[in-house]
Amino acid sequence: MMNFAKKLIHQNGIHPMNNNKKVKNVLVTGGSGYIGSILVRKLLEKGYKVRVIDNLIFGDEPIRDVKDKIELIVADIRDVQLSHLEGIDAVIHLAGFSTDPISQYDPRLTVMVNTIATENLAKITKESGIKRFVYASTCSIYFTLNPPSELPIYKETDNINPVSCYGITKRCSEQALEYMTDADFQPTVFRKGTLYGLSPRMRYELLLNSFAKDAFFKKQLTINGGGDIWRSMIDVQDAVAAYIKAIELPIEKVGGKIFNVADKNWNIMEIAQLVKNIAKETRDIDVDLKINPNINTRNYKVDTTPFKETFSFKPIRSIKEVLCEIWDHCENDPNHDPNNPIYYGDQWYAKFFETPKGKKFRRRL
Ligand SMILES: NC(=O)c1ccc[n+]([C@@H]2O[C@H](COP(=O)([O-])OP(=O)(O)OC[C@H]3O[C@@H](n4cnc5c(N)ncnc54)[C@H](O)[C@@H]3O)[C@@H](O)[C@H]2O)c1
Repeated sequence: MMNFAKKLIHQNGIHPMNNNKKVKNVLVTGGSGYIGSILVRKLLEKGYKVRVIDNLIFGDEPIRDVKDKIELIVADIRDVQLSHLEGIDAVIHLAGFSTDPISQYDPRLTVMVNTIATENLAKITKESGIKRFVYASTCSIYFTLNPPSELPIYKETDNINPVSCYGITKRCSEQALEYMTDADFQPTVFRKGTLYGLSPRMRYELLLNSFAKDAFFKKQLTINGGGDIWRSMIDVQDAVAAYIKAIELPIEKVGGKIFNVADKNWNIMEIAQLVKNIAKETRDIDVDLKINPNINTRNYKVDTTPFKETFSFKPIRSIKEVLCEIWDHCENDPNHDPNNPIYYGDQWYAKFFETPKGKKFRRRL
């Protein structure tokens, strides 16, 4: 874990124990997304008051049934103002481009949405006297060109050299938060591994979700990179629980720190084999494994010790339960079309950018 708050706290002579005002009102940006639509429900269940800022790129369906229980501000995070922070005790910042390909589509736009808007939101949060700010970064920042043949297990303190536009803009946001950290503003950065599990805003491009869909609908899994690649992963339900703990734990445990948020580093072949076995055991589906040797894809392992210790991490459920929930969903809804572009960020954004709303979003009108 990287602790960038400590030095400043000591310099200022302010003791972190003064920081633990109980959080009641939470602002979630991107609250209608894959993670956000689950997080918002869990926060409501736990009695928090929730304000969401989201420009609803995937529509309001993921949060439609809880809309009357939250305060929804349909806005672009680039346009956030001080008034949006009024009465808020903690910010969970999820909004932004969430995939590599779509971040690559218009890099200048990605810089504005992923980095400049994050920096601006953080400044306004700090000006509002709010200390807690949890930022959704990613383990994708560890994917670099020409990694050593013996793949390192990256720690939060390691030097990193992200190469994709997505990774670079996320790392720049982390650095902006780091520079702003002091006794009055103590952000927590979550470098999340790839998530999996069912969500009201389903994403089938995520690795395990994609395997779940292909095992069920195609009875075949395509394993890129010859099967010899690694990815850190975590159940979306566990990630949501961690976000909530990040606003509940004493701030000196989480404030001004970066955590690799993952359950396990999975070898892609190992997880494909697991999906194959569970599909046979629970659905009597015979799944074929097709190895694709040539595709260059993200490949990294991360150290999760600080996250697991600080958050007393225990997975809520098994991979078998996650897969069965997705398969039950597919079985119970005969109209469920897994090829609908809305389930794939890249495809959806590419279409969205061509619409009048999308052109306006790109500030090209
Ligand atoms: N899902 C993962 O596996 C994963 C892994 C690591 C990090 N993350 C990060 O977590 C965050 C949330 O991911 P997700 O999977 O829920 O993504 P998502 O794409 O499902 O949701 C993003 C949400 O943000 C909103 N949004 C996008 N741009 C906006 C803007 N300019 N103004 C206002 N709202 C905007 C969208 O409408 C959407 O509701 C992202 O920042 C992503 O980079 C996700």
